[in-house]
This record gives sequence, structure tokens and C-alpha cells, in this order.
Amino acid sequence: MATDDKLDAILGKLDAIMAAQRTLAAEQRILYRQVEALFALYGQIDFNAPLLDMRGWATSPDVLGVLLRWIQRERPAVILELGGGRSTLVSAYACQQNGGHVYAIDHDADFAELAREEIAAHGLSDHATIIHAPLVEHRIDGEAWAWYDMAHLPDLPPIDLLFVDGPAQHNHPQSMLRYPALPLLAGLLADGALIVVDDADREHERRVVARWRTAFKLTVLQDLSAEYGQSEKGVKVLRWAR
Ligand SMILES: C[S@@+](CC[C@H](N)C(=O)[O-])C[C@H]1O[C@@H](n2cnc3c(N)ncnc32)[C@H](O)[C@@H]1O
Repeated sequence: MATDDKLDAILGKLDAIMAAQRTLAAEQRILYRQVEALFALYGQIDFNAPLLDMRGWATSPDVLGVLLRWIQRERPAVILELGGGRSTLVSAYACQQNGGHVYAIDHDADFAELAREEIAAHGLSDHATIIHAPLVEHRIDGEAWAWYDMAHLPDLPPIDLLFVDGPAQHNHPQSMLRYPALPLLAGLLADGALIVVDDADREHERRVVARWRTAFKLTVLQDLSAEYGQSEKGVKVLRWAR
């Protein structure tokens, strides 16, 4: 190999090493934030059992911290979570401290049962209700959408806080799967309700929020983007007005 080619090959490898190092440094920053957020959660809640298996499918500690702060600040009487799990535990502990009740919907019967068992293991069954509601077809302005079967919802008082973290978008053929939340729940939301959107930096959720904002009166109260290292997957907090 000629000397110039060797030099190019070495420089190319060096670039790749430096890019990998930048990725690692960014991941470390995210990880440190999650550790901080986890310590903060344990500082604020006296957990009766360990809070395990966060991140990945489950809500990350940073988003749980955002959710907890808004619950503590606004003391919602009725919380509805689309996609339950760790978030339901944190919301239920907050309801135990402040009053209120959390309802969490899951489209999957097994995950719904798991969530119910966890709520019971933490001694929170009086503060949280897990609802299994499979996905069925809904028509919104002539378009077909797969979303939770509303017939499984109990009669709810107006919802003061809606946490949008389901249905699971992963491997689902329909894009913007979480869009129906506002068109279908509009009549059930209290004036001034908070809407907390997890995974807000994902392409699907960006488009969902943009479409909601053209159709409904929403104010952005908080926008923690992954791009600026403010959160792992992005989280937005919106205020609903009639
Ligand atoms: C983003 S997750 C909801 C996470 C929830 N808010 C939490 O704090 O754990 C959305 C849905 O994914 C499904 N799910 C949860 N864990 C899963 C896993 N390990 N594998 C596949 N699907 C999962 C459940 O049906 C859940 O409602």
C-alpha cells in the first residue's frame, strides 16, 4: 500500500474512534442523568418495594421525575395513563401522598396483569386501577385508527392529567399510533388538563403532537428534548384548553 493510502486508512480509523468516543461520552451523560433522576425519585417517594426494569420499554427515571413534579405541583384528582407500568407506580405513590386516583390502560392482557400485580406488591391497589382495553378500529374524520377499546373504560370524572405512553408503537404497522388519544378523549378531559407525552422526540410522536396542535388548543408548558441532552427520549408537557 502506498504511504498516502496508509495515511488515509489510519486517519479514517482515527475518525471512527473519535466518533465512537463522542457517542460513548453522550451515552454516559444520559446515564448519569438517569442515575440522578433515580436518586431524586427515591428521595421523594418511600417505596414499599424496589422500582425495577426502567428505561427501554418502561418509562425512564427522568420522565418519571417530570411526571411526579407535575402531579405534585397540580395535584390532579384523576390521572389517566395510556400504557401503564413504572409510571403507574410513581403516579399511584403521588396519589397516596396528595389524593387522587390513577387509571392505567394497557392493550395487552398480560402486561395489564403484571402491572396489577406490581401495584399490589407496592400496596397501592386503593390508588390505581389497571384497565385492559384491546386495540380496536376507530374512525376519526373518516380515517381508520387502531386504538384502545373505549367500552372497557369505567365512567370517569374529568381527567386532570393524561400520560401518553401507549399503545406500543414498536413493530406496529400504523404510524402515529398515539394520535387518537386527544380526538377520542377530548370530551373526557378537564379544562386545563395536563398532557404529558413520553418518547416525544420520536418521529411518530413529533408528528402526533404537531397534528394535535393544529386541531386543539394546546399550550406547551415544558419541552425537554433528547437533542439537547435534557431527557433521554424527549418529553413534552402540554396544557389542554376547551
Ligand atoms: C411504552 S410501554 C408503557 C410503559 C409504562 N408507561 C411504564 O412506565 O412502564 C407501552 C406498552 O408496551 C407494552 N410493553 C411493556 N413492556 C413491554 C416489553 N417488555 N415488551 C413488549 N411490550 C411491552 C405494554 O403493553 C405497554 O402498555
